[in-house]
Amino acid sequence: MRRALELAERGRYGVSPNPMVGCVIVRDGAIVAEGWHRRAGEAHAEIDALQECDDPHGATMFVSLEPCCHTGRTGPCSEAVAAAGLARLVVAMRDPHEIVDGRGIAAIRAAGVEVTEGVLESEARRLNEKFTWAATNKLPFVLLKAAMTLDGKLATVARESQWITAEAAREKSLALREEYDAILIGSGTVVADNPGLTRRLGWNQSITPWTRAVVDAGDALSPHAQLFSDGGRTILFTPKAPDDLPSNVDVVPMQAVNGRLDLVAVLRELYRRGVQSLIVEGGSLLHSDLIRRGLWQKMVVFVAPAVIGGADAPSIFSGEGVSRLTDAYRFRFDRAELVGTDLMITAYNKS
Ligand SMILES: NC(=O)c1ccc[n+]([C@@H]2O[C@H](COP(=O)([O-])OP(=O)(O)OC[C@H]3O[C@@H](n4cnc5c(N)ncnc54)[C@H](OP(=O)(O)O)[C@@H]3O)[C@@H](O)[C@H]2O)c1
Ligand SMILES: [Zn+2]
Repeated sequence: MRRALELAERGRYGVSPNPMVGCVIVRDGAIVAEGWHRRAGEAHAEIDALQECDDPHGATMFVSLEPCCHTGRTGPCSEAVAAAGLARLVVAMRDPHEIVDGRGIAAIRAAGVEVTEGVLESEARRLNEKFTWAATNKLPFVLLKAAMTLDGKLATVARESQWITAEAAREKSLALREEYDAILIGSGTVVADNPGLTRRLGWNQSITPWTRAVVDAGDALSPHAQLFSDGGRTILFTPKAPDDLPSNVDVVPMQAVNGRLDLVAVLRELYRRGVQSLIVEGGSLLHSDLIRRGLWQKMVVFVAPAVIGGADAPSIFSGEGVSRLTDAYRFRFDRAELVGTDLMITAYNKS
């Protein structure tokens, strides 16, 4: 199963909106075939492995996700697996999507194949954390990403933030964009930084187009901002779009309440448009609102060995603070590593 998970990982930059899946066929303790899913529309891992296998009769198949039982862009794997004459199937986790959800395994069992579930399940869930979250909650998996100084500042008092971290951390954050479907920022960041938010490492091979999105509650945006004028796809959530916006900008009209859009409505609309995973790259107010409302799943923070101070300099959490420690927004640190000269901290929301 470890090998199947390794194979699945090869699909990281290609499979969206599908999950990453790897498969290994074993006979007498030796691997006789391997497969993995490369891209939506192409062979699923099980079929890829079966195609490579001279004689699956009596063999054991290890697959990192329950075989599907529906006809989507390709046919149902459960039928192919049941027809292959395998003696045994070992599955890491059930497919949480309601069109499968145990039915693939049931069909294969009904065909007389012995099925074992739950082998390296937590590793498999982690590998497909975005797919699993989106399939279960019908909302995009949200990654909060920020670069801060050791005193938690995202920018100086003059709103300067380019660059807090060094080259290696910036490369790493460009790599994150390659494995997510979309990116979201607040209008304050458009005004302060005028970012392009492009995917530019060229790793992503998936069929899901890269989507950039902005939440804006006021009318301070320029139609000439890079995100709007560079010809790429951008969605603007706003009660009032600037005049003369280029036609590549897709405006989603939305009412603001106290200067804030409803972020649940924003996430729902992004999901409806096919976004399963979303990176939020600031700024301060947007991160704060997502943290306050618990609307995030994972956090990657790059911490630079520097302090800049300034009570008015934006930090990762702003607005009214909690007065009691028992009200702190707490989460779980998962790992910390050095990336060049900066620290990269990965955390998960508790839920
Ligand atoms: N170091 C980093 O990683 C990093 C990353 C990004 C940005 N930054 C820095 O952060 C600063 C900008 O942060 P910011 O806090 O001023 O702006 P921001 O979070 O980028 O944008 C906030 C604006 O978004 C709009 N908005 C609409 N609905 C919202 C909601 N539910 N929650 C939050 N915002 C909503 C509001 O627009 P209206 O203003 O129209 O009401 C709000 O003022 C800049 O200095 C930038 O350089 C740093
Ligand atoms: Zn399948």
